[in-house]
Amino acid sequence: MRLSTILAAIVTFTSVQASPVERRAPQTGDCITPTSSALQKERTVLLASKLIPDIYDDFEPSTTVAVYYHGDFVPYNASQGALDTLTAPSVYFPKPTRDGDDTTYTLIMNDPDALGDALGPSFLHWIRRGLKPSCDTPATDGGQDVRVYIPPTPPPLLPPTAHRYALTILREPKGGYAPDVLENLLKSASFDLRAYQQETGAKVIGSTYFLGSFTA
Ligand SMILES: *[C@@H]1O[C@H](CO)[C@@H](O)[C@H](O)[C@H]1NC(C)=O
Repeated sequence: MRLSTILAAIVTFTSVQASPVERRAPQTGDCITPTSSALQKERTVLLASKLIPDIYDDFEPSTTVAVYYHGDFVPYNASQGALDTLTAPSVYFPKPTRDGDDTTYTLIMNDPDALGDALGPSFLHWIRRGLKPSCDTPATDGGQDVRVYIPPTPPPLLPPTAHRYALTILREPKGGYAPDVLENLLKSASFDLRAYQQETGAKVIGSTYFLGSFTA
């Protein structure tokens, strides 16, 4: 076996192993370059956190998502207290390599730990549509809210006291959302990201998450 083959096998093995979630620092500026190792790591993190399969079917990410509250980068699985997250974060994401320049994206923030299974899959915190990828200024400075941001308020005593807050980037359907589809979909109190994709044609392409608790 050639040395390069062995090295490639080692690299693959170490990058797909589910390990405790590592903290991720932004590279240059405020955005992560969507290298294949960064994208693979994102998927590993989503598997370790069980967001795959709790809210996502398994998928190959094509963008990374960088979230900042009050100018501070929030790594995967970081703890945030309710006071840290009162106002909406700034979200950046690089353009997926294969997407055209006219593609637009939606950001969805939801909490799968908010409701019992009987009540529904998640609580919806934020939907902002019509975003363009950006690593220079927050992508969320553009676009329009479909659901205004509701700050996390995980109950201090009721378990689980730390909830996972997922921030997902979806590629919007070509030609945009059909009229009324979002309005009809968002009538119920609980939120199902799988149903959202099925009914709108939008597709999950990247994600990050943090742990919110009453006090961090
Ligand atoms: C996330 O952080 C919590 C609290 O620090 C820890 O208990 C948990 O194992 C971490 N989850 C993952 C998937 O690393």
